[in-house]
Amino acid sequence: MSLRGDYSRAAADFSVEQDWDSYCSDEHALFRRLYERQSRLVPRYACPEWIAAIAGLDAGSGIPKFSEVSRKLRARTGWEIVAVPGLIPDEAFFTHLAHRRFPVTVWLRKPEEFDYIVEPDVFHDFFGHVPLLFDPVYADHLHEYGKGGLKAMRLDAVKMLARLYWYTIEFGLMNTPEGVRAYGAGLISSGGELAHCVEDPAPKRLKFDLEKALRTDYQIDRYQTTYFVIESFDQLLQATAPDFTPIYERLRALPALAP
Ligand code: PHE
Ligand code: CO
Repeated sequence: MSLRGDYSRAAADFSVEQDWDSYCSDEHALFRRLYERQSRLVPRYACPEWIAAIAGLDAGSGIPKFSEVSRKLRARTGWEIVAVPGLIPDEAFFTHLAHRRFPVTVWLRKPEEFDYIVEPDVFHDFFGHVPLLFDPVYADHLHEYGKGGLKAMRLDAVKMLARLYWYTIEFGLMNTPEGVRAYGAGLISSGGELAHCVEDPAPKRLKFDLEKALRTDYQIDRYQTTYFVIESFDQLLQATAPDFTPIYERLRALPALAP
């Protein structure tokens, strides 16, 4: 796969300078339009933890300065943002997470990609992922995930762990007193799937099941047909705490499940 970011200036850990001054006014305006569209949806469809966090970010005026957000994040949960040219290799990604650094892509999509983009851009990464890093339990869970990723590499189990990431961090749903809400970044940053995942009767919404998530393949080019619903980030933290080594061993012998 060829990636569209500029990797030529990246450091060994794939980090780059954000170079905020190089964004043009059209890019800030496009980010604002994306932000405004999602802002009309999130009060109804996003989980309360995400909604609580975005208020303190005042990211509605354009592409945020990562350094300023990192300053707030460090004070709250010890996380920071690291600017990257786009998708990065597993080991670099897991290593950042294991050090409470969340990689955020520096470039923004083109106007014609307003509704849909294949690779993550700064809007997806920032709007979808960063607010939840202010939640202490979510923040701890993602840190554990990063360490678990490095371990999964040693155990040749990254494919299984990536499925879990997909069905939680990217496309996870949560039960709340108001009904099912989205916490997955791929949902929160999506113009179409955010309402769909909560309201459409068609997709399956399964009670979160660790082993099933590890086994279920996923499709990256359409709305999900299956979502896993957690009760809380605490549940996610607890459910993923056990040593996965024997689980990987057992599941490796079983066929993957269709999405
Ligand atoms: N507990 C997992 C292991 O031992 C690591 C992990 C933590 C995975 C959190 C996902 C989320 O491998
Ligand atoms: Co993402």
